[in-house]
Amino acid sequence: MDIKKLISEMTIEEKASLCSGADFWHTKAVERLGIPQMMVSDGPHGLRKQDLTAENPGVNLSIEAVCFPSACALACSFDRDLIYRMGQALGNECQAENVGVILGPGANIKRSPICGRNFEYFSEDPYLASNIAASHIKGVQSQNVGTSLKHFLANNQENRRMSVSAEIDERTLNEIYFAAFETAVREGKPWTVMCSYNRVNGVYSSENKMSLTDTLRDRWGFDGFVVSDWGAVNDRVKGVAAGLDLEMPSSGGVNDAKIVEAVKNGTLSEDALNKACENVLGIVKKYLDGRNENAVWDKEADHRLAAEIASQCMVLLKNEDKILPLDKNKKIAFIGKFADEPRFQGGGSSHINAFRVTGAIAAAAEYADVSYAQGYRTDEDAADSELLEEAVRLAESSDVAVIFAGLTDLFESEGFDRSHMKMPECQNELIRRVAQVQSNTVVVLHNGSPVEMPWIDDVKGLVEAYLGGQAVGEAECAVLFGKVNPSGRLAETFPRKLSDNPSYLNFPGEGDRVEYREGIFVGYRYYDFREMDVLFPFGYGLSYTDFEYSNLSVQTDGCNAEVSVTVTNTGSVAGCEVVQLYVHDCESSVIRPVKELKGFEKIELKPNESKTVSFHLDRRSFAFYSTEIHDWFVESGDFEIMIGKSSRDIVLSETVNIKSDDKMPYICTSNSTMGDLMKIDCARKYMDKLIDEYSRMMQTESDNTELGESTKLMMEHQLRDNPLRVMVSFSDGAITHEDIDNIVKSINDELNR
Ligand code: BGC
Repeated sequence: MDIKKLISEMTIEEKASLCSGADFWHTKAVERLGIPQMMVSDGPHGLRKQDLTAENPGVNLSIEAVCFPSACALACSFDRDLIYRMGQALGNECQAENVGVILGPGANIKRSPICGRNFEYFSEDPYLASNIAASHIKGVQSQNVGTSLKHFLANNQENRRMSVSAEIDERTLNEIYFAAFETAVREGKPWTVMCSYNRVNGVYSSENKMSLTDTLRDRWGFDGFVVSDWGAVNDRVKGVAAGLDLEMPSSGGVNDAKIVEAVKNGTLSEDALNKACENVLGIVKKYLDGRNENAVWDKEADHRLAAEIASQCMVLLKNEDKILPLDKNKKIAFIGKFADEPRFQGGGSSHINAFRVTGAIAAAAEYADVSYAQGYRTDEDAADSELLEEAVRLAESSDVAVIFAGLTDLFESEGFDRSHMKMPECQNELIRRVAQVQSNTVVVLHNGSPVEMPWIDDVKGLVEAYLGGQAVGEAECAVLFGKVNPSGRLAETFPRKLSDNPSYLNFPGEGDRVEYREGIFVGYRYYDFREMDVLFPFGYGLSYTDFEYSNLSVQTDGCNAEVSVTVTNTGSVAGCEVVQLYVHDCESSVIRPVKELKGFEKIELKPNESKTVSFHLDRRSFAFYSTEIHDWFVESGDFEIMIGKSSRDIVLSETVNIKSDDKMPYICTSNSTMGDLMKIDCARKYMDKLIDEYSRMMQTESDNTELGESTKLMMEHQLRDNPLRVMVSFSDGAITHEDIDNIVKSINDELNR
């Protein structure tokens, strides 16, 4: 397909028609020129291909497919290879079903724990979110099937998602909200990016040149097409000019006609339209070139993969008295409806028509005899006393009770945010009552985001399964009975209560405006800075074995560092460890988080085995985004390199000196403060001289006092917030305005040399 030639042969009407969908799930064909349609489907954690031949196609009527764990669970694996393998399977399913692009992954930051769609997002941390997204993208695309990284940009709440404006300052935008997408784009190279519904600083994402063109294409090198979220177009013509290539779904030709009119009357350049067509056709060509007519997919194999992946994502949060793994010879009670009918995915556009769902009751048969009581209903918040009493009786007559609890679809879904962080009342009551009669109580949670746990001190064990996909029961039993050693780590902080969260005062905003006033202090960046107690910190998760860390080595070269550390399994069973690397800037001219994740690796170790893990830190690992130069900036100085088992459990650290060539442009004026000038090498001598002169004057005034070094130092502290010009009045005119002007001139001359 010679794209440029094709475009040159197309009429304006044909070109405009390519800029919107043929229907809900297809791009348009141009039969005259042999351009075929291409099908796109949701995503992200399974194939939601709508069966267009069905008589009554509705939201959930899609072909039977495999539901893998949702993003909230996947990120807890901290495992790039695992996510890549899931991507490969999804890509293969798409090839077999002739789907050109599978919509996802979603890389948005979890700004608040109650965003209804958090289950579809990875993390509160941009480094983790973007790296996991990149692996997902690479896996799918290895099968010559495209992805659509979404929802670009700052779609961090469902409340008024189609109209709200996320008000975000430049540094926060770059360090947190752009950063969540940046690595996914630069390394993952998604075929497409989906713009979000909302506005950012007043401008709809579907017509935001700053994000779609200046950042995505010009800074990050994106070369696919940008598609609107379904119905996200506000002004189609502005969209084309800003870099929105494809509108989805079809607008019935209404917006195509507007594009034609705008090109004809000169308000939209034909070049911009050509560019959009080029981007769309570029991906259609990739789809055609990579089409594998012989692909077949094996549901059973993908189900097994879903089970394996889910088992690698489970996070063991509490294990008092080593209650887990369960002793198969004990009387075990599984309690709670989710043991039988697990909640394994979230509601909305990502809803997969799972061909099979395995709950824990069914899966337990492989390991032990377990008895079951339903315990609660999922359609009511209040406890059902009969079910409750039955469950309590069963717990009392057993040796151990495992309660399967969590959130129901009524509590969280695409389309609305949660109003609180609580679990259903009937489930909290069930856990409380069971724990009263059974000291060996374990809770397994099925939820898309953090919940408050008023019962946490009453239970011995806690497994966070999140929304683990259709094979979740198998994965749960594998972990509960010790076939798999849990190795998931939390990709988000669990605060003790919602009001502890940094976005609490400004979520979901007022009317159509939400101000991100917490700035860069999202998630653990905030809790750490405030030294706040949290329920479970970012990066936290237990194992059935123990790991010891040794031999931290850090070699620096300018703004780069090579880090290595040895990890040993000192326990008695094999297991995986997530080695986490955080960086702390010891002294900075801007406020920075106490630590930021800049590396992670997952390794598997047999008992007594050791492995050395290496990390490469580049300049970005040390940089902050400077609003003065509108770019990333590394300040020379000491940085602490921390190796942690979680964000709150740093086991080894080393402070190193980073030497940066980055220069902040600086112009000295008579209003420059002496403190700022003291920090600039070439200006320091002038400041020393001024302080000397001033000290001598002080000496003459108070005749007998000897002005020593410590007094000069005190003087330096006193003077550092003073603008230069103040020295004229403080010295009673002895230091003149002319003196100050000369100093300013000399400093600027030296700075520009
Ligand atoms: C969702 C997208 C989804 C699209 C197509 C939208 O409502 O926000 O995530 O891909 O629908 O189903």
